[in-house]
Amino acid sequence: MSNRAEIFEVGPRDGLQNEKTMIATADKVKLVDMLSVCGFSRIEVASFVSPKWVPQMADSADVLAGITRAAGCRYAALTPNMRGFDGAVAAKADEIAIFASASEGFSQANINCSVAESIERFVPVAEAAQAAGLPVRGYISCVTDCPFDGATPPEKVAEVARLLGDLGCYEISLGDTIGQATPETITTMLKAVLAEVSTGQLAGHYHDTAGRALDNIRASLELGVMVFDASAGGLGGCPYAPGASGNVATEAVAAVLNDAGYDTGLDLDALAKAAEFARTLRT
Ligand code: HMG
Ligand code: MG
Repeated sequence: MSNRAEIFEVGPRDGLQNEKTMIATADKVKLVDMLSVCGFSRIEVASFVSPKWVPQMADSADVLAGITRAAGCRYAALTPNMRGFDGAVAAKADEIAIFASASEGFSQANINCSVAESIERFVPVAEAAQAAGLPVRGYISCVTDCPFDGATPPEKVAEVARLLGDLGCYEISLGDTIGQATPETITTMLKAVLAEVSTGQLAGHYHDTAGRALDNIRASLELGVMVFDASAGGLGGCPYAPGASGNVATEAVAAVLNDAGYDTGLDLDALAKAAEFARTLRT
């Protein structure tokens, strides 16, 4: 078994998108630059969504233009539709992410369409990304619990994972959007998803609302998941998921993975400095 585990840093996107006070573009660039020296292979820095829906991400192109890119690191952007895809390409994002939900209520609240409609909308985006040679990551929100629909059936997560895999997503990130999962519900959900896609294609994206994200990561490691999304300083939340608080903190995940014997390849001193700066951006 490889002892490598990876943290996908999502702080500049998922961490900051929910901040009510507009954060200066220069501070976002500074955060990304501080994260870039930590040794991440992938950092999500931008989101080409409607600025009416998520005002904080309106300067995504400027952030991508302002950062100092580290060799070996891919800078990712969310793209809900072709307009977002075109924006991400123009801003030279290295990879894109399409984002679906396993629950209808959250799909409507977050991207204003049903789950099936969202998959249809992602088809041209995934095709265009493949034509442009850009890796596509897929998110599934509300993999165990939805703030609108209650408990999410594991087979629904498995179905959406298969659809995203069919669209060519190289990795599928499983979101506990409102941080209500338990090791038991995560394990049940993962077992259902693993019937459709392989463990090497999965990432865990756990918010820490109830303080169980690290336990959920340990449960996921047991089933072979080796990639976890996290946000330096534990910033974050989704504006369309009532009750969603921060992503699990990158520095806490790094400590758990190190304690469990996994090598994350991260410079923990540089990470501590980035996390400290990230926390100053919280309003
Ligand atoms: P809509 O209103 O159904 O779509 O929104 P529309 O096509 O009618 O567009 C509405 C307006 O937005 C129009 O402008 C469009 O031009 C504009 P208007 O005519 O009103 O002036 N527009 C855009 N502007 C910029 N970039 C674009 C774009 N597309 C349309 N790409 C839409 C549909 C998807 C656009 C909207 O619902 C939206 O932007 N939603 C994004 C919500 C979001 O970003 N949520 C947070 C990210 S997801 C998340 O955090 C979960 C995750 O972390 C995993 C987890 O934790 O579970 C990933
Ligand atoms: Mg999230």
